[in-house]
Amino acid sequence: MANLTTKYAKLTLRSPVIVASAGITGTVERLKRAEDNGAGAVVTKSLFQKEVCRVAPTPRFKIIKHSNSFTLYSYEQASEYNLEEYADFINKAKRSLSIPVVASINCYTDEAWDEYSKMMEQAGADAIELNLSCPHGVHIMSGIDVIEEMVKTTKLVKNTVKIPVIPKMTPQSTNPGSDALRLDQAQADGLVMFNRFTGLDIDVETQKPILHGGYAGHGGPWAIMYPLRWISAVSPKVNCTICASGGAMDGNDVIKYILAGASAVQVCTTVILNGYSIVNKINKQIEEYMDRKGYETIEQFKGNVCNKILSMEEVDRSHWAKAEINKDKCTGCGTCFKVCIYDAVDKVENKYEISANCDGCGLCAELCPTKAISMIRR
Ligand SMILES: Cc1cc2nc3c(=O)[nH]c(=O)nc-3n(C[C@H](O)[C@H](O)[C@H](O)COP(=O)(O)O)c2cc1C
Repeated sequence: MANLTTKYAKLTLRSPVIVASAGITGTVERLKRAEDNGAGAVVTKSLFQKEVCRVAPTPRFKIIKHSNSFTLYSYEQASEYNLEEYADFINKAKRSLSIPVVASINCYTDEAWDEYSKMMEQAGADAIELNLSCPHGVHIMSGIDVIEEMVKTTKLVKNTVKIPVIPKMTPQSTNPGSDALRLDQAQADGLVMFNRFTGLDIDVETQKPILHGGYAGHGGPWAIMYPLRWISAVSPKVNCTICASGGAMDGNDVIKYILAGASAVQVCTTVILNGYSIVNKINKQIEEYMDRKGYETIEQFKGNVCNKILSMEEVDRSHWAKAEINKDKCTGCGTCFKVCIYDAVDKVENKYEISANCDGCGLCAELCPTKAISMIRR
């Protein structure tokens, strides 16, 4: 029988699925909804020292459709609460919930980091997430070297509180891998990899930024591959545990993150768009996978992909494959002909055939609308 319990940042969670910091975790009622729908923990909507960020503009969401995916583009910076109200919120949340409550704070002076983190600990927070990574927050927008601030802040807050301290990393770095190692050395108890990227979209008619006129956070299902890559590289090397964040929409995505070495996975966009009940569905999907694979614990498959990632030297570079067209399925649309740069597609009586020029790249098979092309051994 699958047991979803996991250990992350010295906390024991009943499920690896954590509802991430955002408006969806901005009030005690919303946190309760996350708990009632099976979340392993919640991270509260960030408290910012910068007061202007405590009022969000409206509207602040835009769904930008791509052909097979979408971007959730948003401008929502901070909790509306001030420091005292936020401490009260954390305190009430702790009294109403039985799952861990992680308080998320974002300051820009050492004095405030010290004061805010002490207040969160006193209010009963189970851990503190350090949010220097907000895609439209003070640090990212200033263009400073965020990792230096993050390392300094992690050390400072570690010296201030006894509860676990979890830096939430920005993906906007030249080397998130070495950033993670430095934060681990700074005694981080857990790492969140990552917050979202800062982006811009433009209305070509008005020639202005869309929505509210500034840069905004952007993410979506497509955002999963970047954190997957870095978590798989970092997880075997750090002492602390890792929480994935970015593009996890369903149970399959959460499983991928665990296979890459994450101990827990934050979900945000999928909860915003599908409601809190998606957490229950994700838990069920993980359980089904574990039962099918014969796993009883998360540890049994955590990080299983890490030693299967090949180096450049190890990749099989032999051209073993070639395309083959099933004439019965070919409609003669010509997609394969249009995309083949090897001149390996010939038209024969309104259908297409593959010639000996085929390099085996596989693009025609990927794009064929009727799935008439398969890749076979030469
Ligand atoms: C509308 C919105 C508000 C967010 N607010 C915060 C925040 O206050 N603090 C924070 O650390 N991350 C914030 N995030 C980032 C999420 O916590 C999460 O890391 C990110 O969205 C990636 O996960 P996802 O792809 O599941 O959405 C926000 C994200 C969205 C979409």
